[in-house]
Parts: sequence; structure tokens; C-alpha cells
Amino acid sequence: MLGTSPLDNLDRDIYIATTSHDEECAGQVITWVTHASLVPEKRNVVAVFSKFNHTYKVLSASGVFALNLPSREQTAVAVRFGLYTGNEIRKFDNPGVKIRTVADVPVLCETAGYSVVTVMSQVDLGDRVVVIARVIEEKFFSEVPPLKLSHFLKSCSEDEIALQRSNYLKMVERDAGLISDEL
Ligand SMILES: Cc1cc2nc3c(=O)[nH]c(=O)nc-3n(C[C@H](O)[C@H](O)[C@H](O)COP(=O)(O)O)c2cc1C
Repeated sequence: MLGTSPLDNLDRDIYIATTSHDEECAGQVITWVTHASLVPEKRNVVAVFSKFNHTYKVLSASGVFALNLPSREQTAVAVRFGLYTGNEIRKFDNPGVKIRTVADVPVLCETAGYSVVTVMSQVDLGDRVVVIARVIEEKFFSEVPPLKLSHFLKSCSEDEIALQRSNYLKMVERDAGLISDEL
């Protein structure tokens, strides 16, 4: 784990948020994701995105995205979507990234499941945006073990861990002056 707070110490589920708008695909690893309702027909979800991410820019335009739950076999996909930005590389142009379209959203194949969600509301925290979304379609493949943060970190090379640390420190520095005290 990279942070020093008890909140950094949770073995979170790794999700990969994917979306597209005007034929531009975007996607990123996201771990700050939780349910916000119990009722299956009205399943609300909260996801926290950095405003600077390519994925957030594209999902702001499309209003829909998928939360994919990668399998433990998909650590390379998680590295691609979590350590690099779509502002610099085309993440979907890779043989390891297989997609199909569900409800007009690119969804990753061979995962443990996905929820396609539509954005209902957003709260701007200055550095991050809390996106509140409603599930419109989802599937869970209970026989496929999902990728947890601990598996992901164990499978990363030393160079990948070093890149994560460097990304993390740059983001902390960038975000420090942006967080709003007037919420
Ligand atoms: C383990 C891990 C967890 C992450 N969790 C989040 C998160 O909850 N929210 C977020 O905005 N970025 C998170 N990120 C960072 C983004 O995945 C990363 O900045 C990515 O490069 C953004 O890609 P994009 O610019 O193509 O959207 C996480 C990265 C890793 C490796």
C-alpha cells in the first residue's frame, strides 16, 4: 500500500472504469468505488475520479461508464489502465485489451463482472469529483476470482511499483492546492 492512512490499508477491489464518446475510448483503474443503495432495481454507486484523468473527461461527455471487475489473470490490463494515461497512450490498442459493447459502453471481456452505470449527479471536491451513478445493466461471474489490490501490487514488477509511487507523489503534490474547504 502506498499511503499512510488507515484508509490506505484496505485491500480494495480493483475496478477498471471504461467509457467512450464520439468514438474516443477511455478507461482507468479506480478503487474508490462503493454501493450507495441496497435495492437491486435502483442500485446507486459512488465513484471518485480525478478531474485530470482522460477517463473523467470522456465520461463527463458521455454520461455513462462501466465499472469492470478484472479477474486475477488480468493484472497486465490493470497495469495498463492504472499506471498510464489516455492523455498519452491509446490504452485500448493492445491485444490484451478485449472489449464488447454493452448499452453503448465498451466493456472489458474475461472479467469477473461489470456494472454499466449512468451519471446522476456529481460533487466537485476541487481535486476529485464524486460521481453518483445508477446501474442500468450488470453481470457478475461468481466463478471468476476478482483482482484485489493486494494481488495487483504483488504481481507488479519493481519498475511498475516505482512508477506507481512516482505517479502517487506527483498527484499528492498536484492535488494539495486544489482541495476545496467550502463544500
Ligand atoms: C491501485 C490503483 C488505484 C487507483 N485508484 C484510483 C481512484 O480511485 N480514482 C482515480 O481517479 N484514480 C485512481 N487511480 C489512478 C488512475 O487509474 C490513473 O491515474 C490512470 O492513469 C488514469 O488514466 P486516464 O488518464 O487514462 O483516465 C488508481 C491507480 C492505481 C494503480
